[in-house]
Amino acid sequence: MRAWITAAPPGAQLPSNRALMLEHGASPVTVQKAVRQLAALGLVESRPGVGTFSRTIRQARPTDLSWQTAALGAPRARLSGLSSGYPGKDLLPERLVRAALARASRTEAALMRSPAAGLPELQAWFASQVAASAPVGVTPPSARDVLIVAGSQSGLSSIFRALVGPGQPLLIESPTYWGAILAAEQAGVTLVPVATGAHGPDPDDVDRAFAVTGARAFYAQPTFANPTGTRWSADTGAAVLDIVRARGAFLVEDDWAHDLAIDADPQPLVGHDDDGHVIYLRSLTKSVSPALRVAAVLARGPARERILADRAAETMYVSGVLQAAALDVVTQPGWSTHLRGMRQHLRDRRDLLLDSVRTHAPQTHVEHVPVGGLNLWLRLPDGMDVDHLVHECETRGLLVAPGSEWFPAEPSGPFLRLNFSSENPSRFREAGELLGKALLTLA
Ligand SMILES: Cc1ncc(COP(=O)(O)O)c(C=O)c1O
Repeated sequence: MRAWITAAPPGAQLPSNRALMLEHGASPVTVQKAVRQLAALGLVESRPGVGTFSRTIRQARPTDLSWQTAALGAPRARLSGLSSGYPGKDLLPERLVRAALARASRTEAALMRSPAAGLPELQAWFASQVAASAPVGVTPPSARDVLIVAGSQSGLSSIFRALVGPGQPLLIESPTYWGAILAAEQAGVTLVPVATGAHGPDPDDVDRAFAVTGARAFYAQPTFANPTGTRWSADTGAAVLDIVRARGAFLVEDDWAHDLAIDADPQPLVGHDDDGHVIYLRSLTKSVSPALRVAAVLARGPARERILADRAAETMYVSGVLQAAALDVVTQPGWSTHLRGMRQHLRDRRDLLLDSVRTHAPQTHVEHVPVGGLNLWLRLPDGMDVDHLVHECETRGLLVAPGSEWFPAEPSGPFLRLNFSSENPSRFREAGELLGKALLTLA
C-alpha cells in the first residue's frame, strides 16, 4: 500500500477496504489496521463517510539550516560509523522476556515511578552477583551501592561527567569500545590511550600514564574486551588494582560481556575492592534483551552520590516496568539454562567464522582467539586501505567494521571487527569467501 501511495498523485482515493481485502487476501481487521498505521504515519487521511485519500504533500521551500553552523561551532566529537554489536534475536531468551514483560505489566511497577537509584530488588540482585565473586576478607557491596541505569552506555556518560569532567585526563585502553571513546569525548574529557594486549595493558605503562598526566581514572574492560575478546591475566588485574589504590584513582571496570563468556568464566576485579576504587558497570542489554535496556553501575561513597546526581539531572529514573521485567528474567530457573545455551552457541559461531576466515582470507590474522564476547578482531596485511576494504565488502553484501573506530588515537595497524553473534551462522562460510574476494581486489 505504501508503494501504491508513493506512485499515486496526492489526494488520490485509496481503493475501498473491500477491494484491498480482495487484492491482498487480508481480513477486514488487517486492512483497517494497515490504514490506521498509514494515517498515523501521515501518508493518508480518512474522511468519514467519503473515503481514504493519499495526503497532499505540500511542496515546502528547501530548509536553510546553515545558520546553525555559526551558532554551534565545531563539534566536540563526531559520530562515525558506530558499529553496534548486539547479538542476533535467536540468541536471546525470547520466551522468558515475553513472559516477564507480561507479568511486569500487571504489577505496580507499570504505573509507579521507580526510585532514582532503581528498584531495590534489582539493586540487590546486581550486588549479590558481585558479592559472589568477592574473596573472603573483602566486604561485599550492598544493594545501596548499585545504581540502575538505562544501558551501560548512559552509565559511562554519567561516570565520565561526574568523576572526570571537562578538560580532565582519563586513561583508556587502546583499542577499546568506540562508545566509551564517544561518551568521554562528549563529556569533554581528555583521552590518554594506554596500549592493551592479550593479557591486558602493561602495568608499568598504566602507572607511568597516571604519573605523567595526573589522571584520576582509568576506563578498562578486563574481561572479554570489545573488540579483541581477550581477558586480563590475574597478575595484570592485581597490579592495576594496586596502582589505582596507590594513585588514589578510580578503575572504571566495564563488564559488558559478563554473560557472554565462551572459554573462561568472568572474574570481575570489583570483587577484590571494598574501598570504592572500582566503579563497575554490568549490563543486561546483550544477554536479556536490548529492548529492556537495563544495566547497573556499582559505586561506593561520594562517587556514588556524584553519579546519582548526574543521573537525576539526566533522566531522574529508569522505567520500573523494564526493571521489573529484567529482574523477572534473571531470577527464573530458565535463566541459567539460557546462559549455558548461549555459551555453546557463541562458541560454535566463533569457531565457524574463525574457520571460514582462516580458510578463505588467509592473508588476515586473528592474533587472539576471543575467549568471550561477540567479536573477531582481525589484523589485515600492513598498508591495507581499511575503509576501501569495508566498502568492497559492503558492495558484496558483507557488513564489517573498520578497526579505526576502536582506537582513541591513531590505529596501531589495519584491523577489522567481525561480529559472530548474528542470526545467520549458516552464511559464515560465504562471509569468509566474500572477505577473501574483497581482499583480492585490493591486493
Ligand atoms: C564495552 C561496551 N560497553 C558498553 C556497551 C553499551 O552497552 P549497553 O548500553 O547496551 O548496556 C557496549 C555495547 O556494545 C560495549 O561493547
